[in-house]
Amino acid sequence: MQLSTSAPVLVIGAGIMGAGIAQTAAQAGHPVFLFDMREGAAAAARDKLGSTLQGLVAKGKLAADAAEATLARITPVATLAEAASATLVVEAIVENLEAKRGLFRELEGLLPESAVLATNTSSISVTAIGNGLKHPGRLVGMHFFNPVPLMKLVEVVSGLATEPAVAEAIFALSQAWGKTPVHTRSTPGFIVNRIARPYYAEALQLLLEQAAEPAVLDACLRAAGFRMGPCELMDLIGHDTNFAVTNSVYDANFQDKRFVPSLVQREMVDGGLLGRKSGRGFYRYPAGAPALPAFEPAEPPDGRSIVLHGRGPVAERLQTAMAHRTVIVQRNSDWTGFEVDGAQLRLTDGRTATALGADVAVFDLPIQHEPGQPLAYALSARASAAWAAAAPQWLRAAGFHAQRIADAPGLVVARTVAMLINEASDAVLQGVCSGAGADAAMKLGVNYPAGPFEWLARWDAAAVVRLLDALDGHHRGERYRVSPGLLRRL
Ligand code: NAI
Repeated sequence: MQLSTSAPVLVIGAGIMGAGIAQTAAQAGHPVFLFDMREGAAAAARDKLGSTLQGLVAKGKLAADAAEATLARITPVATLAEAASATLVVEAIVENLEAKRGLFRELEGLLPESAVLATNTSSISVTAIGNGLKHPGRLVGMHFFNPVPLMKLVEVVSGLATEPAVAEAIFALSQAWGKTPVHTRSTPGFIVNRIARPYYAEALQLLLEQAAEPAVLDACLRAAGFRMGPCELMDLIGHDTNFAVTNSVYDANFQDKRFVPSLVQREMVDGGLLGRKSGRGFYRYPAGAPALPAFEPAEPPDGRSIVLHGRGPVAERLQTAMAHRTVIVQRNSDWTGFEVDGAQLRLTDGRTATALGADVAVFDLPIQHEPGQPLAYALSARASAAWAAAAPQWLRAAGFHAQRIADAPGLVVARTVAMLINEASDAVLQGVCSGAGADAAMKLGVNYPAGPFEWLARWDAAAVVRLLDALDGHHRGERYRVSPGLLRRL
């Protein structure tokens, strides 16, 4: 089966997503019918697209004749019957199972049997939408991301009945539209909305435990290469939307505690603190997140006996900070960090500083960390005042903008990334996607700086498992259980 870029496409629903899908299909060369049940909505969406394209022409980003040709390919229609020649439908109507089922049943009566039916649903099972169709094999998910013309990812979702040839045809067509498609199975949240849950959930858990302020969490995760921190991102998405997606993934997984929503977020939704759109979420808008105090480099404090433990880039960075000092190096140690006169500064392995001893500080995993960027650390509850003052000074000397948070296991970046890796491993175990598919989806769908398996390749599966086990032991629940998919990678 093949879908050529001259095939007539019917886009149903002329809202945010439908308008973007119509534009993308028309730019790829398809004649496009655009239908919306609200009278005039399809024509209005076409007019709006006309202005957008004119804007691009004015900025020199699009040739005038290409803009004209794109617009000319889009025909608003008042009835579905007017689009009966379409060989591909992309549905982007309201997110409601009965509405979608009813629509596809109606389409089966109007379109040729060879037409492919695609749904842009973001959370409903493709298998369920197809149930009751005469030919459910030709129904497939074609999940775009907003804004459609700019976002490269398309999740090609196969339900139980979807014929592989239909999924392949949509995969190839997405490529012809300039997108990067990834195959996935119809499971709750598909790839991106499932694997991304811990990015929000870990920040919300830290906030619930009053471990740190939102601005600190955001700054630490931005320092790890994320374009936006989780708190500012939830404010942008809207807490109502983010909470609804979390609840839907939680319920769809039979209330598996791994996906449990947060009281912190429910309180915000209940209070109307929805984020940017309501003027207040974690932050007030338009001001947004307050900036952290500027980084000030420090000289390493004095110490009579300094022992450096471990190997790898973090150990090397610490060693550089100790230049001009006499340092004993123990490469084969089972932890990374250093000891100054018996006090320890250790890279987190998931245990709290307090569990590790008295004069102990733990610091977060520096991935993609540029000098001067924030990095979380925590002190043992039994640390002396002298070590409480010296530990952040050592971190600053190593180029880390040390941010003290409560003694939470796995700190901020380490626990978040470990949980993203764990969720991705579980998705692969369950055949939701391939490892490469998970990496591509997270980089293109939510702009992650690297894919979960790329992080894993730079980290160490045994260390990730140790960290998760420590979190599991600390919290004693279902939430941090290690996926058998991750254990397989040991
Ligand atoms: P929207 O509310 O902007 O647009 C939906 C449009 O569909 C409206 O114009 C409405 O009049 C029309 N409509 C509703 N029922 C209809 C029916 N039975 N027949 C014809 N037209 C109908 O919604 P949006 O955001 O464009 O979402 C559409 C779909 O895309 C939903 O399934 C949503 O879950 C999915 N989606 C949304 C994303 C987003 O970021 N907004 C991302 C990916 C998927």
